[in-house]
Amino acid sequence: MNKPIPCPPPPRPIFITLEGIDGAGKSTHIAALEAGFIARGRSVVVTREPGGTPLAENLRQLLLGQEMDALTEAMIVCAARRDHVCQVIKPALDEGQVVISDRFTDASFAYQCGGRGLAWETLLDLERISLDGLGYIKGNIKPDLTLWFVLDPAVAAQRRSSARAPDRFEAQDEEFFRAVAQGYERRFAENQRFAAIDAAAAPEQVWEQIERVLLERGLW
Ligand code: TYD
Repeated sequence: MNKPIPCPPPPRPIFITLEGIDGAGKSTHIAALEAGFIARGRSVVVTREPGGTPLAENLRQLLLGQEMDALTEAMIVCAARRDHVCQVIKPALDEGQVVISDRFTDASFAYQCGGRGLAWETLLDLERISLDGLGYIKGNIKPDLTLWFVLDPAVAAQRRSSARAPDRFEAQDEEFFRAVAQGYERRFAENQRFAAIDAAAAPEQVWEQIERVLLERGLW
């Protein structure tokens, strides 16, 4: 009698997020990350926040286009995130895919708490309420790796000035982005999944750092 053919183990889900102040250059490396995983035989979903679903993209337009207070901002990004996780991120991870998201919860801690002054504890509560029970293994959903693009806010401002017309956040001054960067620093200190990338380097060197981190963390 033929021996049963063993099933290959299901692919391991991987959730990677990219973070940093506006102008740090994170978006440049997303296509290369996607290509790298595809070359390793993985199926990849690339997405962004706020956004990634029709509802969340509508909420993004509100967030970037209209004045509002910090708590309202936080509730909008959390609502957008819940829809995004339910519709896109969790289903993809449940199927063992690789999900790469341009921003996730850390951006809310950096922008709404660091930049806009919302209390850290308030956002921890909102995060818990909006993501409760949506973990792809157990607990709340969390990235496996967060690539944090670190760049001096003055240099980031120069890079932004040559880009397209600024949205409500991109138009903020250097002081705002220093406060946002402090929010990211606190998240970095509190979460081992963070890897700091020196984003002042040339794009090829930034990419070399990313590849090194993926190897070190056993993701490639
Ligand atoms: P961004 O990734 O900069 O988009 P783009 O590269 O197209 O400009 O994200 C849009 C803005 O949304 C950015 O300025 C940060 C802000 N933002 C928040 O304030 N809170 C959040 O939770 C998220 C995800 C983004």
